[in-house]
Amino acid sequence: MIAYFNGEFIPKEKVIISPDDRGFLFADGAYEVIRSYNGKLFKPDEHIERMQRSLEELRIKYSEIYKLKKVAEELIRINTLGEVQALIYIQITRGKALRTHSFPEEETIPTVYVTASAFHYDPQKLVKGVKIILVPEMRWKRCDIKSVALLPNVLARQQAKDNGADEAVFVRDGVITEGTHTNFCAIFDGKLFTHPVNNHILAGITRKIVLDLCSKMNISVVESPIAETKLKEADELMIVGTTVEIMPVVKVDDLKIGNRKPGPITLELQRKFYLLLEQS
Ligand code: PDD
Repeated sequence: MIAYFNGEFIPKEKVIISPDDRGFLFADGAYEVIRSYNGKLFKPDEHIERMQRSLEELRIKYSEIYKLKKVAEELIRINTLGEVQALIYIQITRGKALRTHSFPEEETIPTVYVTASAFHYDPQKLVKGVKIILVPEMRWKRCDIKSVALLPNVLARQQAKDNGADEAVFVRDGVITEGTHTNFCAIFDGKLFTHPVNNHILAGITRKIVLDLCSKMNISVVESPIAETKLKEADELMIVGTTVEIMPVVKVDDLKIGNRKPGPITLELQRKFYLLLEQS
């Protein structure tokens, strides 16, 4: 596999990252994941804009962000991923410097690493829906930054896996925030509820697409936190994100949702999402 590393396209096994890299020492960096469908990047500008925002919030200066779309397209081409689904992974750290918590005195050169790899998923899950588990929020209060510090997400997702579930969704102060790598939406009486965009969730690009589709479908959207105790009254639940698209949730821990079948609004949102994909 050919990767992009600090300005060059090189074999992935030739990439050498310093042990002094602040990404390695402090998880001092940000990342993005972009999906490509048959060689075409989906919403690349939105992902790159969010990367820019994450870097600004972390005060990491990287002046060549405008190049990343071309880099992603080039990686798809070189790695012959033009006819499959792929994920582009972009990670930018503050670069290498002698270990001290505060920013390095001398300006560092950010470390930039981008890969493209084939993405396989089980389409049956989109049809049948998945199980999720709820876990107490263990993350920091800047979940709006797509930081590479993902240990709480890693532990929670493993807990989901250990429990035969696809995703773990965090509960902070009695309300649902989001999943380890997805946003969360619920349907109550024909209205779509989802956590508002603030420091407790990532402003998901798929979430935004879902809200735009709702407005076109005349489905009211309520951007307000969903109480964990209300879940048993939900008609439909879904997790949404770059990797899961619009995924029906039919079980939360032991609670069955919608008789364990994806609901009509979720299925219609999926249908509209695929139409959008075809047109984009
Ligand atoms: N995750 N919330 C979190 C915490 C995420 O990490 C992600 C994306 C989302 C969904 O955002 P979007 O629709 O823009 O992909 C929500 C990526 C895919 C990942 O970590 O692999």
